[in-house]
Amino acid sequence: MVTEGKDRYANIIPIAELDSAEKRIHPFPVYNRLRQTTPVRYDETRSCWDVFRYDDVHAVLKDPAAFSSRRALAVREKETILTMDPPRHNQMRSLVNKAFTPKVVNDLGPRIAAITDELLDSVLSQGRMDIVHDFAVPLPVIVIAELLGVPPEDRHLFKEWSDVLVKGPEQNTDEEFRQVIDEKIKATDELTAYFTKIISQRRTETAEDLISILLRSEIEGQKLSDEEVISFSILLLAAGNETTTNLITNGVRRLTEDPQLQQRLSQTPEDIPAFIEEVLRYYPPVQAIGRVATRDIEIGGQRIKAGDQVVSWVASANRDETKFDNPDQFILERKPNSHLSFGFGIHFCLGAPLARLEGQIAIRKMMERMKEIQLQSGIQLTPIPSPFVYGVKEFPVSFRT
Ligand code: HEM
Repeated sequence: MVTEGKDRYANIIPIAELDSAEKRIHPFPVYNRLRQTTPVRYDETRSCWDVFRYDDVHAVLKDPAAFSSRRALAVREKETILTMDPPRHNQMRSLVNKAFTPKVVNDLGPRIAAITDELLDSVLSQGRMDIVHDFAVPLPVIVIAELLGVPPEDRHLFKEWSDVLVKGPEQNTDEEFRQVIDEKIKATDELTAYFTKIISQRRTETAEDLISILLRSEIEGQKLSDEEVISFSILLLAAGNETTTNLITNGVRRLTEDPQLQQRLSQTPEDIPAFIEEVLRYYPPVQAIGRVATRDIEIGGQRIKAGDQVVSWVASANRDETKFDNPDQFILERKPNSHLSFGFGIHFCLGAPLARLEGQIAIRKMMERMKEIQLQSGIQLTPIPSPFVYGVKEFPVSFRT
C-alpha cells in the first residue's frame, strides 16, 4: 500500500479539461483554447503550473538552472539522466552518448529493415492487421531488446512493464490511483530483478551489446555502478518503447486520414523523413514535460515560486500560431519544422536518431508493400491510458498488396 501523497505523482494525473475519450483522441482544440485563455496557469487539483505557449515552453526547457529535472522520484524510481541536473547530467550524458552515436544508430538500419519485413510478412496475406499489436509495438521492443542484448523471447515482458511505467489513472479516483501506483512499484521491482540477473551475467562475459559497453564505461576514471546501469536500462525501455510505438501508429493514423498523402509517399519515398517530422509535430507521442522551479521566476507574466512543479505542454507549443503557419494543417513541406516533440536543450531526447530511423523505415516498408491502407469501418479509437503519452490502444486497418 502506498502512503506517499499524490504530489509525488502530479505528473501522472490527467488535466480536467481532457475529461472524455473523444477529447483525448482530439486534444488539440482544448490546448488551443487554453493557450489563448490561460497560457500559464496554476492547476489546484494537480498542484502544478501548466505552460501552453511555444515561447514559454521553450524558455522553461532551455533553462535547467531555473527549471530543474530533479523532481521528487516516485516510489522505487531510480535517478537517471532524465532526472539529473548539471554537472552530473553532463557526465552521465556524455558517457551514454558514446553508446548512441549516429554510427551505432545508422548501422542498425539494415537490421531494423529486416525486422520490419518479418513483421509485415506474417500479416500481409490477410489484407488486414492491427497496426499497434502486429507492428508498432513489436518493432521498437525487438530493436531495444537486441541493442541491450537481452533475449527477444522476453519481449512480451518488456511490453507489459513499459505499459505500466507510462500509465496514469483513467478516472482518477483514490482507489484507482493507488492501484496504478502499486502496479508501477511491482513493475519497477520486477525490472530491477530482471536486469540485476542480466548484469551479473554480463560482468563475467565480454560482449558488444549496450549493457556490456555501459558496464565497461568510465566517467573520470570511475565505472558505472550496477545500480546505474540497471536504472539506465529501465529508462531506455520506458522512454524508448511506448514513444516509438506511438510515433509509428500516429503516422499510420495520419496516412489513413489523407489517402493522397499515402499515394504521394509511395511515389516519392524521399519525402518520408519530412513526413515523420510533421507527424512528430502534429501528433506528438509525448505531450508534456515536467520540471521544478529552483527559484522564484516569471513566465508569461505569472510568478512561479521556488519548488513549484511546472508542466510544459509541447503538444500545445507545436500548434502555436505565433510559431507555425496554419498550425492545424499537416504540411509535408513545412520548413523549418522546429517542433519540441523530442524536448529541447540538455535533455533533448537521446534516442531521437533511433526513433526517427525506426519511424522512417516502418513507413517506407509499408508504402512499398501495402496500398490503400484504411482504418477498418466502425472503429471507435480508444486513447491509451496515459496523461502524457499520446496514442491509441488499437488501430485496425485493411489494405491491398
Ligand atoms: C528524453 C521524447 C524515443 C531515450 C526525451 C525527452 C523527450 C523524449 C520529450 C525529453 C524529456 C525531458 O526534457 O525531460 C521521445 C519521443 C520518442 C523517443 C517522442 C519517439 C518518437 C526514444 C528512444 C530512446 C529514448 C527510442 C532510446 C532508446 C531517451 C532518453 C532521454 C530521452 C535516455 C533522456 C535524455 C536526458 O535526460 O538527457 N525523449 N523519445 N527516447 N529519451 Fe526519448
